[in-house]
Amino acid sequence: MLGIIGGSGFYSAGYKEYLRHIKIGTEYSDAPVPIELIEIEQPFVFLARHGADHHIPPHEINYRANIDALRQTGVTEIIAINAVGGIAEGTGPGSIIIPDQLIDYTYGRQSTFCSQRKQFVKHVDFSFPFDRCLSDRLINAIDTINDESGASRPVVAEGVYGVTQGPRLETAAEIQKMRRDGCDIVGMTAMPEAVLAREADIKYGLVALSVNWAAGILPTEVTMEEIEAVMADGNQFLRRVLAQVIRA
Ligand code: HPA
Repeated sequence: MLGIIGGSGFYSAGYKEYLRHIKIGTEYSDAPVPIELIEIEQPFVFLARHGADHHIPPHEINYRANIDALRQTGVTEIIAINAVGGIAEGTGPGSIIIPDQLIDYTYGRQSTFCSQRKQFVKHVDFSFPFDRCLSDRLINAIDTINDESGASRPVVAEGVYGVTQGPRLETAAEIQKMRRDGCDIVGMTAMPEAVLAREADIKYGLVALSVNWAAGILPTEVTMEEIEAVMADGNQFLRRVLAQVIRA
């Protein structure tokens, strides 16, 4: 079954008439994890990473509870939706990026299911953090939506996602360093989500919506107003992309 993880500005799957709210208890959290179960021809589940009202900041998301809850509901593949800042040419506000690599700059997050207590040690291969097949399905869906609607939403079909700790945005110098490291986009939530999915044997693909140029790419400061304007419109487009993935 497909699981969708929604990021900033993406707090419900929609599909109101087919939707059931469930809560899944896990050993990683006191509170059960709220999940939407959408019972259409191809049932799927949806989880809002920041909570349904965006009260959980990136560094405090319980990534382990989220992935374990999805695993328990029978999810075998995840499409993660992320708002990011653009660093490389072609990744400006409004564009969609399907990254094929990541660099993890986060710290202090619970980033593994391995534990001595559980006598569970697993050194997963993580050479290619995103599932190629899911990425291809996303790219095909975007091409279809662009063709059908005569839209020309720019899509970048590869790239390196640099994952920062947040919740603050980066300094211009940090973005310059990340650019030298080879990062094309910057966001705060792909890790440890991606590696926990790998440990749980769940395929993981990611679609990123650029909502701003990263710090220092333009001479001006990054404002929340510009981010929110791009986000509303971009997430509408992503809803159509997801519907197409589910249909295909
Ligand atoms: N940096 C980090 N995360 C982000 C950004 C950014 O500029 N924009 C959206 N998420």
